Amino acid sequence: MINYSKCHSVLITGAGRGLGLQMVKQLAAAPERPKNIIATARNPDDAVELQKLAKSHQRIHVISLDITSDTSVDAAAQTVEFIVGADGLNCLINNAAVNISSDLNTVTRDVMMKTFESNTVAPLFVTKAFLPLLRGAAAQGSGMGIHRSAVINVSSVLGSVQLNWGEGASFKSYAYRASKCALNMVTRCLATDLEEEGILCVALHPGWVRTDMGGPMAPLSPEESISSLLNVISGLTKKDHGGYVDYTGSNLLW
Ligand SMILES: NC(=O)c1ccc[n+]([C@@H]2O[C@H](COP(=O)([O-])OP(=O)(O)OC[C@H]3O[C@@H](n4cnc5c(N)ncnc54)[C@H](OP(=O)(O)O)[C@@H]3O)[C@@H](O)[C@H]2O)c1
Repeated sequence: MINYSKCHSVLITGAGRGLGLQMVKQLAAAPERPKNIIATARNPDDAVELQKLAKSHQRIHVISLDITSDTSVDAAAQTVEFIVGADGLNCLINNAAVNISSDLNTVTRDVMMKTFESNTVAPLFVTKAFLPLLRGAAAQGSGMGIHRSAVINVSSVLGSVQLNWGEGASFKSYAYRASKCALNMVTRCLATDLEEEGILCVALHPGWVRTDMGGPMAPLSPEESISSLLNVISGLTKKDHGGYVDYTGSNLLW
């Protein structure tokens, strides 16, 4: 059961399709939903399903956000400040990412840099832009979790150094694997910096899921992955702070 009743606001990046859209769908339908669901998309006008959802449910705010553009990030932060007001922002989910094919033959400097920009650098700078709002929420609560203030970085098991061996090494991607590994380190750095302020930071792996990124052979549907993932997120506490966890709540090897 998804229980977000104590979480006033959740912001999701990349909510126009895939897992981000599924998060918005399930949060909006939950009986114990967050008051404000802030669904961001690079091109909101193209996100037809998201727009339909926003029309049929209360307090889904669709706003424009390209995570790689400072101008867009700053404008989004201002809009969100207006939406959440003095409550601040309880939960930021850095979900948007890219996966550009890059095995040893096809990898290029450009693909490495573009992937790092979206998957590693952007989540850090999006988090920095929303920090005043996360801090505002953190100042009003106690303990750690989404009832107070949390940064959830959607990572991948493919970012694990230890698991990139044997069978675990069958998916070849220099850019994606390295970018998610670096995102894990960014998450851990944020966790050490923000612990004192009570802002929970976690890297989460959603499983291998049938989206445009995961492809049709993936074992999990978006519904299965996200119902489990949202449940895990709602139960995160201080003991999970700085962790690397999958959609079942199990810790992953770094
Ligand atoms: N699917 C899997 O099996 C799997 C496994 C492990 C981890 N993950 C992680 O889960 C997250 C969601 O993946 P997914 O499967 O939903 O991927 P997806 O179907 O490819 O969707 C990616 C989303 O990211 C958005 N995005 C990309 N670049 C952006 C930018 N610069 N600004 C704003 N939005 C941007 C896309 O928006 P546009 O529509 O505008 O392109 C889209 O909404 C990612 O972090 C991914 O790495 C997925």
